[in-house]
Amino acid sequence: MIIEPRIRGFICLTAHPKGCEQNVINQINYTKSKGTINGAKKVLVIGASTGFGLASRITSAFGSNAATIGVYFEKPAQPGKTASPGWYNTAAFEQQAQAAGLYAKSINGDAFSNEIKEKTIDLIKADLGQVDLVIYSIASPVRTNPVTGITHRSVLKPIGQTFTNKTVDFHTGVVSTISIEPCTEEDIANTVAVMGGEDWDMWMEALNKAGVLAPGATTVAYSYIGPDLTEPVYRKGTIGRAKDHLEATASVITGKLGNIGGKAYVSVNKALVTQASSAIPVIPLYISLLYKVMKEKGIHEGCIEQMQRLFAQRLYFSGGVPTDDKGRIRIDDWEMRTDVQDQVAALWKEATTETLPAIGDLEGYKTDFYNLFGFKVNGVDYTADTDEMVEVPGLV
Ligand code: NAI
Ligand code: NA
Repeated sequence: MIIEPRIRGFICLTAHPKGCEQNVINQINYTKSKGTINGAKKVLVIGASTGFGLASRITSAFGSNAATIGVYFEKPAQPGKTASPGWYNTAAFEQQAQAAGLYAKSINGDAFSNEIKEKTIDLIKADLGQVDLVIYSIASPVRTNPVTGITHRSVLKPIGQTFTNKTVDFHTGVVSTISIEPCTEEDIANTVAVMGGEDWDMWMEALNKAGVLAPGATTVAYSYIGPDLTEPVYRKGTIGRAKDHLEATASVITGKLGNIGGKAYVSVNKALVTQASSAIPVIPLYISLLYKVMKEKGIHEGCIEQMQRLFAQRLYFSGGVPTDDKGRIRIDDWEMRTDVQDQVAALWKEATTETLPAIGDLEGYKTDFYNLFGFKVNGVDYTADTDEMVEVPGLV
């Protein structure tokens, strides 16, 4: 069929298999162009199908020749209805990995459940024995706690007071003022339950108990800090509480991995256009100004460039893993540079519907958004009849 984007607010209802494939190939080529990383050889990526998780999987496989197992939650296609982008991304990745002689298998299901954890452990035992790196890169609005059976929903709200600031509808380019009412105590607890560290801890405990973590195994989860501008709705809002919890969980996990000499890290990453970040108010305006400034300075990165730097210059850096005073890995260092943040803050004041096309990178934002779903990707023929029914070769 001919597959076109069908946008509804922050999501696109369709995805293009060839565009997703091309995105994956581009990321693989980037990784290969940067040479070998002396990294982990057996890697489990939880949240492996899009964004930072997919880029982590690609960096492991094509940077270090690693065998990879990916866990994700994606929709397969039905005749006449496309799959979700992570499905097509994974299909493309596993085709490329297997063609390169690399082990690549995956599990599609709810990573928060006991069942998917057990299935993953069984697969590691059967095929790899143990893993030496576990990447935890889940972004979800909802989680059912397998112990209590309670379903928690996260919210993106400020704490204590109403937050009023500018935002942009990135489809229309209209800049407007929005006010977000403060959350309740229950909202905070629910957001921490979904996006905090509890599930990461459960994964690492289950993997450790099953004996599938290699001696000295490392695990990494991803966090975000960002500027003062977005603080009320991000780092000091409900999602920030969840990130505080995630960061605190790293030392809890490290404590529990003493038996194998393992270590848990949080890496603070750069703000990027992903399905998760497009839904957060104010952030798209910040990102469009940030992209403009970082591109002008020649320091803009996407997910794959970020993960390349994480693996080559942080995790597997010969001089040991550099961290900040709170033990966090920082690859948001270029985003947070004073010259970058000063310029973004100045542009923020000037941003209106009229000025944004010139002072911000709204086009870059939009292109990245379409690219997430495999659209507007260079070299793809969108007029060609395309088979929506694509198999994931390593799906267990
Ligand atoms: P994403 O939406 O691109 O990826 C989310 C992944 O989680 C996908 O593979 C999806 O299939 C999987 N997933 C979601 N629910 C699942 C479930 N119940 N079971 C199994 N898999 C599930 O998100 P992104 O942006 O790559 O986020 C990953 C992490 O990076 C998050 O912790 C996020 O907060 C963090 N981060 C994101 C930044 C950004 O600007 N996008 C910046 C810094 C950190
Ligand atoms: Na991810």
